[in-house]
Order: sequence, then structure tokens, then C-alpha cells
Amino acid sequence: LDGFVAGPEVSVAEPLGLGGSRLHDWLFPERAKPGESAPSAVDAEVARELHASVGAVVLGKRTFDVGLSHWGDTPFPAPSFVVSHQPRASLAMTSGTFTFVTEGVGRAVEQAREAAGHKAVVVMGADTARQALKAGLVDELQLQLVPIFLGGGTRLFDDLGANLISLTRTRLLESPLVTHLRFRVTPPRVARSRPAAS
Ligand SMILES: NC(=O)c1ccc[n+]([C@@H]2O[C@H](COP(=O)([O-])OP(=O)(O)OC[C@H]3O[C@@H](n4cnc5c(N)ncnc54)[C@H](OP(=O)(O)O)[C@@H]3O)[C@@H](O)[C@H]2O)c1
Repeated sequence: LDGFVAGPEVSVAEPLGLGGSRLHDWLFPERAKPGESAPSAVDAEVARELHASVGAVVLGKRTFDVGLSHWGDTPFPAPSFVVSHQPRASLAMTSGTFTFVTEGVGRAVEQAREAAGHKAVVVMGADTARQALKAGLVDELQLQLVPIFLGGGTRLFDDLGANLISLTRTRLLESPLVTHLRFRVTPPRVARSRPAAS
């Protein structure tokens, strides 16, 4: 609720920072403790839909660094493009390959679109997602609003400026653990002449 996509002290042991793993409780029925809310059918359907929609992933190097050992694979079963300043050889995993892209987020999105075919490109990592938003490369924003306060950490929407991007809500689904929101993005005016992302 306080706008963080990861809590403080992000590390390989705690990729979502201190307390941040609760952001994903809605994805893991096995985490539910007796007497507490468990993921609902709505949560399961949103997770299934997301998984089925992903044709390629663009992720920031920090998300890659802290996520890899937990995923043990690509984050989704799809080709994954890591935005980084450090060139590095591709890394083949079981269900996809990590390709390291040093020419910026726009180039990573371009490569991911090509790899995704008719499916969606998912962008992971706050810094990386913000750059994609500012460049007018995002068609849709999917937000999971979890009723917790993290008190600090990594904010998703810092430094976006005012009135740059406008949103139209296209979906609102609720469960005890999370509110699933979806928005259509009208990109910043500077980028309006670009072709729409598919
Ligand atoms: N709540 C969620 O569902 C969720 C989802 C995804 C991620 N996360 C969390 O978000 C945190 C990571 O987000 P973040 O904002 O800190 O970092 P990030 O976006 O994952 O990665 C940032 C890094 O990517 C590289 N990079 C970014 N833009 C670049 C560019 N234009 N050119 C070249 N390299 C570029 C740089 O790495 P180098 O300079 O080192 O190469 C930069 O430090 C992690 O804690 C992760 O677990 C949360």
C-alpha cells in the first residue's frame, strides 16, 4: 500500500527485501497459515492468466541478480532479456535463455517483442519498468495491491513526473490477500507517434 515493490535490504536471501515476500503470498497457497487467508480462486486465475500470456520477459540486472537462485530458471518459461551495463554471454536455462542487452531498455523490449510473437512482453524490476513507461513502451499496467506497509525499500513509481502518463482502469478483482488492478496506459506525449506495443 505504501508503494514499494520490495522492502528494505534487498539481497539474494531476501530478493523482495525485509518483509517483501508477503507481496507474493497470493501466489503461494502453501504459505497460508491456519486461521489466515489463503489465495482464492480469483488469485489462482490471475496467476494462471499471467503465466499463459507471457511470451518474453525484460528484466533489470538487479532483479536478475537477486532472483536467479530462487527461480532456478527464467522467471517465466520464456526468453528473458536482462538490461545491463555489463556485457555477458547468454545463459541457457531449462525453459528459456537469458540474453544480456547493453543497449538500453528500448532495445531489450524490441528483442523481447520479436521473441514473444503474438504473446505479451512482461517487464520486471522497478527501475527498468519506469524507463519502459517513460519511453512510451508500456501498453498495460498490472498492479497487485497488497494490504501491507513495507515502510521503505524500492518504489515502483518514483520520479515519473506529473501528468506524464495517463491510465484507464480496465479491471479490478479482489480477494482477501490482494486487489488485482489493470490499467491501459496512454503513453507520454513525446512517444505518441511510436507504434503501439503488441
Ligand atoms: N514485487 C514484485 O513483484 C517485483 C517484481 C520484480 C522485481 N521486484 C524487485 O525489484 C527489485 C529490483 O528493482 P530495481 O529497480 O532495484 O532494479 P532493476 O530494474 O531490476 O535493475 C536495475 C539495473 O538494471 C540495469 N539497467 C537498468 N536500466 C539500464 C539501462 N538503460 N542500460 C543498461 N543497464 C540498465 C542496471 O544494472 P547494471 O548497471 O548492474 O548492469 C541497473 O542497476 C528487486 O528487489 C526485485 O526483487 C519486485
